[in-house]
Amino acid sequence: MATHIVSGIVLLALCYACTVFGEQKSFKSGQIMPDNNNVHINAHGGGFLYKGGLYYWFGEHKTEGTAGNLANVGVHCYSSADLYNWKDEGVVLSVSNDDASEIAKGCILERPKVIYNAKTGKYVMWFHLEFKSADGKPNYSTARCALAVSDKPTGPYSYVRSFRPQKGRMPTDGDIADCISIDKSFDDAQIEKVLNNNNYKMLKGRGFAFVRDMRGKGQMARDMTLFVDDNSKAYLICSSEENATLHIHELTDDYQNFTGRFARVRCSDWNEAPAIFKKDGKYYLFASFCTGWAPNSARSYVSESIYGPWRSLGNPIDGSPEQMRTTFGGQSTFVIPVAGKEDAFIFVADIWRPKNAIDGRYIFLPIEFENGRPVIRWKNEWDLSFFDK
Ligand code: DGJ
Repeated sequence: MATHIVSGIVLLALCYACTVFGEQKSFKSGQIMPDNNNVHINAHGGGFLYKGGLYYWFGEHKTEGTAGNLANVGVHCYSSADLYNWKDEGVVLSVSNDDASEIAKGCILERPKVIYNAKTGKYVMWFHLEFKSADGKPNYSTARCALAVSDKPTGPYSYVRSFRPQKGRMPTDGDIADCISIDKSFDDAQIEKVLNNNNYKMLKGRGFAFVRDMRGKGQMARDMTLFVDDNSKAYLICSSEENATLHIHELTDDYQNFTGRFARVRCSDWNEAPAIFKKDGKYYLFASFCTGWAPNSARSYVSESIYGPWRSLGNPIDGSPEQMRTTFGGQSTFVIPVAGKEDAFIFVADIWRPKNAIDGRYIFLPIEFENGRPVIRWKNEWDLSFFDK
């Protein structure tokens, strides 16, 4: 009798495990996304790499409460063969307990992305870095991009250094006519006055921040992504100039530095959260407006060249006015090209929960194309067979 009761309990426990730890077969955006240990995936502002038959997901490891928006742990990695079921690979870049480190615990480390460099055999991680502030409050004035490398996708990654790129340089590419000069209504004396007074209001959005940082510290680099082109050239795309303008920087052949070739794009469009993909030889860019952790309307752009000119294709979200106004409550972070399927791209976004950062959710939705425009529609549940239609 006792044996039967024990077997019954074991069976019940197994059934429970099957339901709770069961194999995932679909995407359910906005819900808890369990990993192989049945723990909600902790990889926010993430980036994805496909290598050796596996997808790797790198993202910000958040902790509980509002303090969890700071980097208290580092970059977390997960792996998956099918994009539904994710194995916890642990923290692959750890913040440092040494306050003198650029990545000291309590710094801000956002939107990590990893690319593989075939020439060096290294996995190269870039991310947005804000040094730890003295008062412990979030402070975004460092505005640097930073770099860490590893011999394996799952790390550990060694921190290399941080950058304010292109100090002293003018843009080499892009829509230079539109972007290169600062407000034409100002004469030289007025321009000098704004720059010397570091007049933040005037610097915003009118090209002054570009000139200030070209002469000064180098260009700001906040929300960022990486893109590797078909010819293996890689680019870092980031929000710059107090977030008014995106910069697209060519990386060196080892992906660990800047060549000096770069473009300012969509000047004064105020884009954050860039995510790039390429289809039929054209480059597509998703981005958001700048409203902190609060959601806003997504933007989409297309270009024949990575350096632009990038033409606006409007809000890619098709749905209710509320869904279009808030991007389903999310903010873009990456576009995953699905391996082995033609023209299959997944829009990935974060639903931030700034009051309890660790509870942030993820949006995975298929990208459709209509009249040359990418279109994203909400789906409570869907799977990759969507792309076989
Ligand atoms: C919006 C950015 O996209 C996020 O990565 C983060 O920097 C928040 N702003 C902070 O308010």
